Amino acid sequence: MRKRSLSSKTRKRLTTFVAMLMRRTAACLPSFVAHTSSTRRILMTSATQNYDLKGIRIERIPSRDCVRRFKCGETSIDKWVSDKAFKHHDQDRSRVFCALKGESTAALGFYALSFSPILPTYLFGQHADRYQDGDAPFVYIEWLAVQRSIQSNGIGTVLLINALQRAYSVSRNVAIYGVALRALNDRTRAYYEGHGFVAREDSAFPLMILPIWTLRDLFEPRRG
Ligand SMILES: CC(C)(COP(=O)(O)OP(=O)(O)OC[C@H]1O[C@@H](n2cnc3c(N)ncnc32)[C@H](O)[C@@H]1OP(=O)(O)O)[C@@H](O)C(=O)NCCC(=O)NCCS
Repeated sequence: MRKRSLSSKTRKRLTTFVAMLMRRTAACLPSFVAHTSSTRRILMTSATQNYDLKGIRIERIPSRDCVRRFKCGETSIDKWVSDKAFKHHDQDRSRVFCALKGESTAALGFYALSFSPILPTYLFGQHADRYQDGDAPFVYIEWLAVQRSIQSNGIGTVLLINALQRAYSVSRNVAIYGVALRALNDRTRAYYEGHGFVAREDSAFPLMILPIWTLRDLFEPRRG
């Protein structure tokens, strides 16, 4: 089967964002991202966000206090993060990463990662045939959220790209088919589609997949 690559529109959108991060956060993105030719070209574009992303760092959740007052506006997420995020991280059930800034210990946003087996019927093309003996392995983004008062400033995308980078690093050592998540609603579905995810079912909370070849497309240097 021919592998689907990122559409040029999606790739441009993502590389624009990566470039903007580099300018505004002096971000700790790996040098191979900085050296893709499209990223170099886009380094000249101007940023549109108002919130100053400079100084944002993404770390493993340092304590429960960091997310105790976190509110993104989605009750299920707010409840999980304040009640369970640190506990699950501590128990190796999820890895939780927070965006922090300066001396503040309050998370601006967070995401949680784990592994998940996914039924082969959700895979692309003939790929189900490869997993006749079991499910396909995925890095799963359990949650991704940003403090309500600072949403739409790029922090969610900073977090998402950081999560994808981690998934890419994992894929270099442990085989995965890609990254999966479930969209909460149509708006988040559109958000993830804009970042290369493809919905694999029609449901209220559709399973969305970003396959391994899209991760490679994003993070491996292009030749020539
Ligand atoms: C979805 C979310 C993580 C995006 O992070 P962000 O920092 O706000 O987003 P970015 O600045 O990187 O990108 C902006 C885009 O995010 C999406 N977005 C912004 N606020 C959103 C919200 N409350 N709900 C859903 N999507 C939202 C929109 O697509 C927006 O683009 P637009 O301004 O053209 O509409 C964040 O808004 C959030 O925490 N929302 C509530 C919780 C949630 O829905 N989490 C996703 C679970 S699947």
